[in-house]
Amino acid sequence: MDSSSKSLLKVSDLTKKYITKKSFLNKEYFHALDKVSFEVYPSEIVGVVGESGSGKSTIGRIILGLAKPDSGSVYFGDIEISKRFPEELRKDISVVFQDPRTSLNPRFSVYDVISEPLIVNNFPKGEIKERVLEAIRMVQLDESFLERYPHQLSGGQRQRVAIARAIVLNPKLIVADEPTSALDVSIQLQIVNLIKELNRLKSIAFLFISHDINVVANLSNRLIVLYRGKIMEQGDTLSVIKDPKHPYTKLLLSSVLPSNPRERKSFPEIVEDNNSSPKFNGCEFYDRCSFKSQVCLEKPNLKKVGSREVYCHLY
Ligand SMILES: Nc1ncnc2c1ncn2[C@@H]1O[C@H](COP(=O)(O)OP(=O)(O)OP(=O)(O)O)[C@@H](O)[C@H]1O
Ligand code: SF4
Ligand SMILES: [Mg+2]
Repeated sequence: MDSSSKSLLKVSDLTKKYITKKSFLNKEYFHALDKVSFEVYPSEIVGVVGESGSGKSTIGRIILGLAKPDSGSVYFGDIEISKRFPEELRKDISVVFQDPRTSLNPRFSVYDVISEPLIVNNFPKGEIKERVLEAIRMVQLDESFLERYPHQLSGGQRQRVAIARAIVLNPKLIVADEPTSALDVSIQLQIVNLIKELNRLKSIAFLFISHDINVVANLSNRLIVLYRGKIMEQGDTLSVIKDPKHPYTKLLLSSVLPSNPRERKSFPEIVEDNNSSPKFNGCEFYDRCSFKSQVCLEKPNLKKVGSREVYCHLY
């Protein structure tokens, strides 16, 4: 990405803590996000990958104004959106969630689902119909689907409808939080291809969140690897995949992308950590790392390694 162009979204030092233990005298906090910073440029697909509980959805929720950070900021262009999400920007940032069974109102027809954002934004009647038709065609469903209800659709078709709703206001950015995870593998690929197509044809930027590095590697221009609320590594997707720097990225790729595709599996098994105590002040990846040394008992900094950022004492 041309670093001279202006970013669409700028996330800086985003921190979100939750209280894990509260007693009369002290509280213990758990960092769902710890100083997370990244940018999304116009028309770019940025992938966020990490295992369950790493903070992926928390990032999405803060960007969408559904949660507040404890510190840090999110700017959309020149406007700060993390303190108070400006209603006038709702049309510029939309969302696709993991499970279209729960994200689509079962009492709404497909037409109602897709037209709702236009009605809320006071679009004229004639234009609403036009835009709904354009959106349903963009997601490669024909008009006859507009009369159906969510229960009359397959999982893949429901997700296409959710995407049609997300694009109907011509957003600049879509936060897609695990949009393929509830789908069969063959349908996952169709949705990934659809997202690529929408990105190409409509220049919509995506923040694509997934636990599956395989999916994200196939789709994104840039990749952010998250572990326990910290960015471990971020950079150009191809270069991260070809030459992972961080031990966690290496582990993910070694277990997910072996040369024989039939051997592919999801994330490496999660071993029981003993550095999960809030009192442990070393590297978050310490217990699972094969490269750790004494120095890792202190936290590393996120360092520039070429065009990459890596959170590790090895660099
Ligand atoms: N409202 C909350 N109160 C307390 N803890 C929370 C809350 N929301 C999230 N968390 C915790 O913050 C951490 C990050 O949650 P988040 O939902 O962002 O993870 P995730 O990476 O999206 O996981 P998954 O892949 O399972 O969706 C988790 O440990 C979660 O339990
Ligand atoms: S800082 Fe140390 S423990 Fe952490 S990832 Fe790097 S080598 Fe491993
Ligand atoms: Mg999540």
